[in-house]
Amino acid sequence: MAYPATLIPGDGIGPEVVDAAVAVVEATGVEFDWDRQEAGMGAFEDTGDPLPQATLDSIGRTRLAFKGPLTTPVGTGFRSINVQIRQHFDLYANVRPCETLPNTRGPFEGVDLLLYRENTEGLYAGIEYFDERNQIADSINRITRVGSERIIRYAFEDAVRRGRKRLTLVHKANILKETGGMFLRIGQEIASDFPQIEFDDRIIDNMAMQLVIHPGKYDAIVTTNMFGDILSDLMSGLVGGLGVTGSANVGADCAVFEAVHGSAPDIAGQGIANPTAIVRSGAMMLQYLGETDAAQAVRQALFDVYSDPENLTGDLGGRASTSEFGETLAARVREIVG
Ligand code: NAI
Ligand code: MG
Repeated sequence: MAYPATLIPGDGIGPEVVDAAVAVVEATGVEFDWDRQEAGMGAFEDTGDPLPQATLDSIGRTRLAFKGPLTTPVGTGFRSINVQIRQHFDLYANVRPCETLPNTRGPFEGVDLLLYRENTEGLYAGIEYFDERNQIADSINRITRVGSERIIRYAFEDAVRRGRKRLTLVHKANILKETGGMFLRIGQEIASDFPQIEFDDRIIDNMAMQLVIHPGKYDAIVTTNMFGDILSDLMSGLVGGLGVTGSANVGADCAVFEAVHGSAPDIAGQGIANPTAIVRSGAMMLQYLGETDAAQAVRQALFDVYSDPENLTGDLGGRASTSEFGETLAARVREIVG
């Protein structure tokens, strides 16, 4: 049986890395019935709508999407389509693992961190006001008990499933006493249900410093939307950059898999982007579907291919193109699954 799934190539480097990643995912032998749909700047230019109804209908039907990055106009124009998709399908848990591969140029060896980011509220809730006359801008940091409980509970349960030992809640409750304060209190309440996980908390600015000095002291992290967005890019920098970190957006019965990175307009169209990030998202998608062997084959193939620096793309000091890297990786996956 083929899994029905929506495929969104996206903007910028999206189509290049998604093509490579689809070939790798399919090399496992797991079959997908892809429904190709548009979203983002390309969709906006083609149809006048950056999030066409057909795309929403497709995800509504398949409950599963594999997507490339989407360009969002900065400081003006339409709201982020990524944020809109996460909110529309209530994909409240953004899971962003960060694990070192061989021969990457990160400052540390053996980083293995796991970030859980609240994905639907906080400063990205989209509640913004502009008082034209007085030139005053407000963005409301909406934190709810329900929203906090579900992401923190998800983080604990997933950390247990993955055999993690410790969960650190990251906040700014010293300054943001209402929003950060409630998020922290809820974490402390839920922690008592998970005695097998060591729970603690850190203030965001201190945490940013701690992570760049000794990431090995941390394990799993749970935080609110914007802190998670920023920390996940920081964590990517610990393991070789945005080319290598994947992510999952998970809700009750729907999930969207995408890289942490954006559309990288500075390198788009050159065939040099690293597809590893979206490949790792693909492995997470296979795991989500219960295709554990296939997911493991992709992870193993990545370690094997990275063992030879000749195989790597330019962001990691290699010379392979996006498609060359993808083909090497897909071939290794086929060998592993036999
Ligand atoms: P970006 O993540 O696109 O790029 C940041 C830097 O990392 C660039 O120098 C880029 O070349 C490099 N990079 C990113 N992915 C790479 C890869 N796979 N291989 C090699 N190098 C890679 O962030 P930026 O430039 O801030 O944003 C560009 C656009 O992407 C914006 O419109 C932004 O809104 C959007 N964006 C979309 C996301 C999504 O669709 N989930 C996430 C983040 C940003
Ligand atoms: Mg981001």
